[in-house]
Amino acid sequence: MRELTINLPDEAATATFAARFATTIQPGMVIYLRGDLGAGKTTLVRALLNALGYQGRVKSPTYTLLEQYEVAGLQLRHFDLYRFRDASEWEAAGFGDEFDGSNICLMEWPDKAAGLIPPADIEIFFEILPEGRNISLHARTDTGRECLKSL
Ligand SMILES: Nc1ncnc2c1ncn2[C@@H]1O[C@H](COP(=O)(O)OP(=O)(O)OP(=O)(O)O)[C@@H](O)[C@H]1O
Ligand SMILES: [Mg+2]
Repeated sequence: MRELTINLPDEAATATFAARFATTIQPGMVIYLRGDLGAGKTTLVRALLNALGYQGRVKSPTYTLLEQYEVAGLQLRHFDLYRFRDASEWEAAGFGDEFDGSNICLMEWPDKAAGLIPPADIEIFFEILPEGRNISLHARTDTGRECLKSL
């Protein structure tokens, strides 16, 4: 399966979807989260972490650019590149090392580091509706397709 669109009428629906998604993600996956400010990208990452059993606080990496988590035997990396400036910042922070084939990397605003970040296995597009959100998942690799198939 290459594409899947899901309606999320409220945050509870996001949590329900995240619980399913959590069972399909694999180490090493790169997932782009695309959508306007406030579209629900961070909310989905938080729901995913909670679904995996993470009990700590999940804050938006708005200023830190990266937050890291270890849960359920997985290493997750949550990037928000909205405030990312240039390649030298990427090098200085050593972000390239995070894409090690083992960490699961979830990236908000991936376009801000175009050319630096590896391609996505899955891109998730968020659309703001009058009530709730639509998300559309697009598989870009075989790994991504396998993941969508089992959703
Ligand atoms: N499925 C949903 N239905 C209704 N509201 C939602 C849903 N998902 C998230 N929201 C709401 O959207 C708001 C913004 O969400 P969030 O911070 O996740 O956006 P974001 O896409 O990460 O934005 P940014 O690009 O600024 O980081 C929150 O108040 C959250 O409650
Ligand atoms: Mg966010």
